[in-house]
Amino acid sequence: MGLLSVIGMAHSWVRQRVQPGDAVVDATLGGGVDARFLAELVGPRGTLLGFDIQPEAIRRARERLEPLAAEGRLPGRTSLQLRSHSELAQAVPVELHGRLAAVMFNLGYLPGADQEVITLPETTLPAMGAALRLLRPGGILACVLYPGHLGGAEEADEVMRWAASLPQEAAQAAVYRMVQKPGAPYALGIEARVSGR
Ligand SMILES: C[S@@+](CC[C@H](N)C(=O)[O-])C[C@H]1O[C@@H](n2cnc3c(N)ncnc32)[C@H](O)[C@@H]1O
Repeated sequence: MGLLSVIGMAHSWVRQRVQPGDAVVDATLGGGVDARFLAELVGPRGTLLGFDIQPEAIRRARERLEPLAAEGRLPGRTSLQLRSHSELAQAVPVELHGRLAAVMFNLGYLPGADQEVITLPETTLPAMGAALRLLRPGGILACVLYPGHLGGAEEADEVMRWAASLPQEAAQAAVYRMVQKPGAPYALGIEARVSGR
């Protein structure tokens, strides 16, 4: 049968916690695979906010969401923004602060586009901090990290150091990794704590 892929595990963490009508964020739209997954989970009553700094990613994500739009299954409130995820706190409407069910990050570069445009720790870390504050209790930050490309290992290390430093009362963090494949992508899941648990 085989174990879940790292993206499969990130999706599984999210699927377990997101209901129709929820509000979710794709912090790195890229090709729109995660955005479509999130859109299907929250459905027409839900909210999907997506961010990327490349016009090509916005175009690809829009294209991937088109079939859902044609079937009337797009989240009623869908907004794909050409904007850095480091501006997450300002970009997410105030009424959704503390109410997000999931925020997904898929780090690295967009395959088939400009491979010099990569996620960087100086924006990734503030974005993740903001994401954690925007989640509802029990909400999930799911991230796929890519240590294989130039700068990827340094970014992954910084993210892991940040995650390990989070107070356990605020968040619970876990890693899913194929241990026989050093340098392969891996998934990090951080659940915002439900108080008193
Ligand atoms: C690996 S791709 C994402 C894949 C995507 N989640 C999918 O499902 O296809 C990484 C994306 O992060 C984007 N990115 C890089 N820096 C960013 C930033 N500061 N804010 C938002 N997106 C960023 C890149 O442009 C690229 O499209």
